[in-house]
Amino acid sequence: MHPVSLESFTNKYKALVEARLREAVGTLEAPENLKKSMLYSLEAGGKRIRPLLLFAVIDAFGKDPELGVDAAAAIEMVHTYSLIHDDLPSMDDDDLRRGKLTNHKVFGEATAILAGDALLTLSFNMLADIPDEYVSDKVKLSLIKGLSKAAGAIGMVGGQVADMEGEDKELSLGQLEYIHINKTGRLLEYSIIAGAEMAGAAAEQKAVLSKFAYHIGLAFQIRDDILDLEGSEELIGKPVGSDTENHKSTYPALLGLAGAKDALENHLHSAKEALAATKLNVAVLAEIADLIGLRNY
Ligand code: IPE
Ligand code: IPE
Ligand code: MG
Ligand code: MG
Ligand code: MG
Repeated sequence: MHPVSLESFTNKYKALVEARLREAVGTLEAPENLKKSMLYSLEAGGKRIRPLLLFAVIDAFGKDPELGVDAAAAIEMVHTYSLIHDDLPSMDDDDLRRGKLTNHKVFGEATAILAGDALLTLSFNMLADIPDEYVSDKVKLSLIKGLSKAAGAIGMVGGQVADMEGEDKELSLGQLEYIHINKTGRLLEYSIIAGAEMAGAAAEQKAVLSKFAYHIGLAFQIRDDILDLEGSEELIGKPVGSDTENHKSTYPALLGLAGAKDALENHLHSAKEALAATKLNVAVLAEIADLIGLRNY
């Protein structure tokens, strides 16, 4: 049975991963206030793009997307931790996230930092606990290793540091691409490659999907930069103009708004070309690619 529309696919698998997130945190024997803070940000909403990419890749290989639920929850935990920390006064200093007050505004900075730490560490536990019927130990180890790389110094954290160091500077396009690929692209790429590994993809298929992920990652953050300029705060659920206020290097800052929009279109086009080359059942994945490029939130 194949899903008929992106909407039905999205509704089904969003609900699945959200239930898993609630269960994983809800059952922890941990201080109540810490759990409240973790759940506050996890349940604040969010598009769940990374889980959806993972589910859609498994679907593209003709496997049951449900086998990815623990990995999807783990990725969303890492992503949510990154947002909690990204909003801290010492980083982007933002008050609004997913349409609600940022975590530190509600729980205080210390608890917000620790809730982020707890989400990051719990994510690896989720992967280690994937039932044996779903993946072999070998694949599980690869999933754990992949997330540790994508999220850390040679991935998201490295990109966040370069992003901060780039404030008040005019960067080259290459330097800006490094930031975008790492702070945003690596976790998106991981979502895609983790899905492929769980579905038993061959090395050549993973290579083509990595190409898709590269372009999708850049498109996603270019769209994010554009929305920071011309988005609606009500729709995006976070402050508009945060990048300008923080003197961030962004695609629109470097290329102008029209140049950024061209770059976005080019990356989307290349992403779709890569997808077509996989010869998989990529209908849902292609729709997610469009969503990434055209989203208003
Ligand atoms: C925001 O990510 C941070 C970036 C990496 C650009 P999302 O746009 O996926 O945020 P949510 O999860 O939908 O809130
Ligand atoms: C942050 O990029 C990417 C992360 C790793 C959290 P941004 O700082 O542009 O994300 P938003 O706009 O606050 O969501
Ligand atoms: Mg930031
Ligand atoms: Mg930010
Ligand atoms: Mg942004």
